[in-house]
Amino acid sequence: MYDKIHLIIKYRGAHMDINEILKDTKIMTGPFPELDKKEHGNPFSHFYEWYTHALENRTAEPNSMVLSTVSQNNTADSRVVLLKAMDDEGLYFETGKFREKVLQLTHNSSVALNFYWREQGRQVRIKGTAELTTDISHVADNLDAAVRDLNAYKTFPSEIEFYQALNEGGYARLLYKLTDGKWECNWL
Ligand SMILES: Cc1cc2nc3c(=O)[nH]c(=O)nc-3n(C[C@H](O)[C@H](O)[C@H](O)COP(=O)(O)O)c2cc1C
Repeated sequence: MYDKIHLIIKYRGAHMDINEILKDTKIMTGPFPELDKKEHGNPFSHFYEWYTHALENRTAEPNSMVLSTVSQNNTADSRVVLLKAMDDEGLYFETGKFREKVLQLTHNSSVALNFYWREQGRQVRIKGTAELTTDISHVADNLDAAVRDLNAYKTFPSEIEFYQALNEGGYARLLYKLTDGKWECNWL
């Protein structure tokens, strides 16, 4: 039998149960951009539009993303990293050579990336593989790895989902999938 433990903390001068505070925490407070119905030929151009929109509309640090990896013991791991560059194949991030994620990516290249742009009510979810890359001359201006001893990774997406909260409530999701080398997209 599990005895429920109440975590009581001081909040705004009163003692409250953390679960009361969680229940009352507001989410998805708009106004958000109107529903973007446009389907692009590939998800990268969709991403560029949403990224620049976020940047022009007071979204804090839209280049920070959660990178999820698989550990050597097949457990999940995640952390925030910065999106440093992009091209029409993938997204670049970089890290120190002796970091845990380097070991994990050597063992298993599967990754997920997640951008949450709260001010826009938008989330972009990416599944794919991240490869250590030295082919960075076309993005060298963006990467510290061009001048410092860092590992640069390129994430090759196989799926990208664009999620947007709607002002009237609910949400819409558009999923791009790479199938036989071509991007197809569907509303979920
Ligand atoms: C806003 C923000 C940006 C970050 N950017 C990076 C980054 O670009 N590269 C990186 O290796 N770590 C970055 N970090 C630190 C990582 O979240 C993480 O703590 C560190 O890389 C160690 O992760 P690991 O032990 O899984 O390798 C950032 C953290 C924050 C909060």
